[in-house]
Amino acid sequence: MPGYSTFEYDVLVVGAGGAGLRAAIEASARGAKVGVVTKSLLGKAHTVMAEGGMAAAMGHVDDRDNWRVHFADTMRGGQYLNNWRMAELHAKEAPERVRELESWGAIFDRTRDGRILQRNFGGHRYPRLAHVGDRTGLEMIRTLQDHGIHQGITFHMETTLLTLLVIGGRCIGAFGYERERGRYQLYLARAVVLATGGIGRAFAITSNSWEYTGDGQALAFHAGATMLDMEFVQFHPTGMVWPPSVKGLLVTEGVRGEGGVLRNKDGKRFMFDDIPENYRSSTADNPEEGWLYTQGDKNSRRPPELLTRDHVARCIRREVKAGRGSPHGGVFLDIAWIKEKLPNSVEHIKKKLPSMYHQFKQLADLDITQQPMEIGPTTHYMMGGIKVDADTQMTSVGGLFAAGECAAGLHGANRLGGNSLSDLLVFGKRAGEHAASFATGQTAMGAPAVRDQIEQCIAHAEAPFNRGMSGENPFSIQAELQETMQNLVGIVRIESEIEEALSKIRTLKKRAAIAGVGGNREYNTGWHTALDLDSLLTVAELVALAGLERKESRGGHFRDDYPNKDAAWGEVNLEITRGPSGHPDLQRVPVRPMPADLQAAVEENK
Ligand code: FUM
Repeated sequence: MPGYSTFEYDVLVVGAGGAGLRAAIEASARGAKVGVVTKSLLGKAHTVMAEGGMAAAMGHVDDRDNWRVHFADTMRGGQYLNNWRMAELHAKEAPERVRELESWGAIFDRTRDGRILQRNFGGHRYPRLAHVGDRTGLEMIRTLQDHGIHQGITFHMETTLLTLLVIGGRCIGAFGYERERGRYQLYLARAVVLATGGIGRAFAITSNSWEYTGDGQALAFHAGATMLDMEFVQFHPTGMVWPPSVKGLLVTEGVRGEGGVLRNKDGKRFMFDDIPENYRSSTADNPEEGWLYTQGDKNSRRPPELLTRDHVARCIRREVKAGRGSPHGGVFLDIAWIKEKLPNSVEHIKKKLPSMYHQFKQLADLDITQQPMEIGPTTHYMMGGIKVDADTQMTSVGGLFAAGECAAGLHGANRLGGNSLSDLLVFGKRAGEHAASFATGQTAMGAPAVRDQIEQCIAHAEAPFNRGMSGENPFSIQAELQETMQNLVGIVRIESEIEEALSKIRTLKKRAAIAGVGGNREYNTGWHTALDLDSLLTVAELVALAGLERKESRGGHFRDDYPNKDAAWGEVNLEITRGPSGHPDLQRVPVRPMPADLQAAVEENK
């Protein structure tokens, strides 16, 4: 049996994106000894893919904005399945968190009078996204890293966790391996915060990079935590479709926020064909209105390109399916057209969307100031995930906290763009604060208490080597899973296809259990992939199960066989726990009624 190194912390944070860093900073500021484990190198987090900005009702561009409007927008965007307490805390605390980030050195774009500039995004009534060109997530990570690194936090980079250690219903640490040399690591902690991000790699087309295999969600589920609304996956309307090597790479919603329009191959702005009744009053059939709105005209109406992401993604899919798409299977996103409006459009686009300009120039040899981009939907974000207490972020397992994308509740059935970066700050801070206070007074457990769990974990991790190259190929299993989820549990779902996906996932699970790899533990990507399959297959099964159960369409979950929201279902969350036999146990749980004051905020903003 190979040995392992042991590390001890008050608070162990898993993940170094925005939520993990903010949690670590907070716990450390409260005197906890903090360790951060990150699967990748520091600085490489999906947070940087939230490019267009962080939503906070600061009212710098439109002083009608306030937390009540932001709350109502978030609830409407989430189709009222949101945890309303989380939505309330988020809307109230986001402005303070943004200002705090600025005080730590984040450099935002400015209004003419020197305040933080805010831009339009889908589903937000007023310009609300504090931004740094189209590199907002990057600036956030840079700032948090700089701040955290000076607080004496210890980082364990390129480390993947294999299991959480739980004794008597309390999480007391985790066990994993560092990928470079394949050495096993034991982390003992008084509290653990999961901030591992999303599950995008369960799908073939995604904006997520290789790390996002649903590790936090799967670790929590196996540790006994309750999972919430796993059917709600967000397909961002605009990812690159060409060239094939960059298919899925994000094209920020900021392009549409700055006046970019969507057209089909006939040059038609097809989004005007499909404005839902409940949005009609806030949109215009007049393209001129949409343009003025994106330029900050308070009396103009929102263009249909800025409807919520679930809706725009489905419209794009419809155009492509109907044969009205672009040559490479997407539609056109055009910001170059604004030269008709702005004499300095080239400089303007390069200033507002510098990353997009370089991304298309370098990867697709296309100048977005002159030509339209080809784009299509890409798996971007997971609304569902680990159920947490709204105020503390504690899961149903004692001492185990979760924040950011791997936690669920804030966004309901569909997240509004820009609400993720503020989510990371608001709930990362809360998770760090409450993990630190939970850790105080807990006794640390020693390694002997978890010896059996560790031995089982090592035996499981070594098994692919014992089977060698005669075992199943982990890369093939991963690719088959991604195709299955993409084709059968994607933007538009139907019962027979979800059932087919579930059966395929269960077959793939059996094949993964006999996956084999050659070589040794030193930087062995085949081995890493074999181990990642545990997480990928766990979360894929939960998404499909919940998708099968929800026989209605809402937000990110669209069922072709039940194409409408079903009043008979009402506002119901789907919770999944691990049953006694290890199988997922699914329950419908009605959303708690909103208190009168929050209900009033929704009504007054309808
Ligand atoms: O389009 C974007 O810039 C992504 C933002 C987000 O997901 O919040």
